[in-house]
Amino acid sequence: MHSAETSAPRPRRFFAAGPLTGRIRVPGDKSISHRSIMLGALAVGRTRVTGLLEGEDVMATAAAMRAMGATIDRLETGEWVIDGVGVGGLLQPKQALDMGNSGTSTRLLMGLVASHAITATFIGDASLSKRPMGRVIDPLSQMGANFTAAPGGRLPLTLRGISPAVPISYRLPVASAQVKSAVLLAGLNTPGITTVIEPVPTRDHSERMLRGFGADLTVEVAPDGTRTIHLAGEAELRPQTIEVPGDPSSAAFFVVAALLVPGSDLVVENVGLNPTRAGLFDVLRAMGGQIEELDRRDVGGEPVADLRVRHSALTGIAVDPAVVPSMVDEFPVLFVAAALASGRTVTTGLEELRVKESDRIAVMRAALEQAGATVTETEDGLIIDGTGGDPLRGVNNAPVATHLDHRIAMSMAVAGLASKGGVEIDDTRPIATSFPVFEALLAQAGGTT
Ligand code: S3P
Repeated sequence: MHSAETSAPRPRRFFAAGPLTGRIRVPGDKSISHRSIMLGALAVGRTRVTGLLEGEDVMATAAAMRAMGATIDRLETGEWVIDGVGVGGLLQPKQALDMGNSGTSTRLLMGLVASHAITATFIGDASLSKRPMGRVIDPLSQMGANFTAAPGGRLPLTLRGISPAVPISYRLPVASAQVKSAVLLAGLNTPGITTVIEPVPTRDHSERMLRGFGADLTVEVAPDGTRTIHLAGEAELRPQTIEVPGDPSSAAFFVVAALLVPGSDLVVENVGLNPTRAGLFDVLRAMGGQIEELDRRDVGGEPVADLRVRHSALTGIAVDPAVVPSMVDEFPVLFVAAALASGRTVTTGLEELRVKESDRIAVMRAALEQAGATVTETEDGLIIDGTGGDPLRGVNNAPVATHLDHRIAMSMAVAGLASKGGVEIDDTRPIATSFPVFEALLAQAGGTT
């Protein structure tokens, strides 16, 4: 079970402690780690993974795939082997699948279960149980699966899968890689061609990895950017050896911390720079951030570089809503950068942030205000008037409420490093869902004592 539900809250105050320097390496990409386990579990034979993120979210995926028949073993840190059951071979789990805090596990696994003749119940923590699942229930119902969910299409939810399922052509009503992936994964064990039409491109790790495992998947890109993805079903997946690149969404906290804390000069090694994920770094550069790419290379079929980041004076900008999908998880920490920039930063088109692990628009508005920033909340974003480089006041009353949201906790920790009085957050436990070594790396880089 998710650790934030089985132990006492762990508050902590983060405060300025000097520049971030040296070299650090962030753990493996969360999205790619989930997919490595799922596809490895559906291949015939043994998949080997290095650099796997050992965060709670990915462990929830591993536990669920084990409960449905795969054999998954950890050899040493980040090094895992998966013996798959073959597409169509998932077994009926004996107990409810506990998804903890993980929306990605839930939505992608719903896709997998939907086209197998098994029934699974999905449960999760208080944060996950508030999140909408209708967005995957809709297409998967069209494919023939059956659902009983809590009011509003939420967890706990029981899914009765069907085999053979019906192939569909589905146009995504929201820009969501999770919904796209759920339909494609359901399509793996469905006869015929499953099609997903994506008007706004989202992270493409599923497409890349499905191809890597030997699935017959094609992508057409229309002149207006719309992507049409076709997947041939009843696929046979071949086991792979996968090296997971570092997670740009985790690197983001260190990149912003180094930009904000005077004197910093930090190298973050092995950062995944898939263009569908790397929007934050472009936005920070446009704000004046000195972020240099060193040794650009390919890791596991994904572009990667080491990022050298130096303390920089930032200037506020209007963030183009077209970049939102390529940095959808990075807005909380971008808001922190904006709070110390000179001038105004305007963000729009962020409706999806309201249905993440918390309502990240409202929660970051409250948290940054508590730390002394000037913030206005709109329906679909925040407007932030920065300090022009002066540290934030810090939080001196009640601790910042993180609402079981790892990215709020880490973003406000970074705000603490850039404050006079420090920022106390109410609970650091959720950080373990995506970045268990965050606090250790922060100490290693010199950002905390
Ligand atoms: C993810 C997709 C995104 C992102 C999440 C991981 C994925 O969610 O926020 O952290 O691995 O597919 P949405 O698809 O709901 O935007």
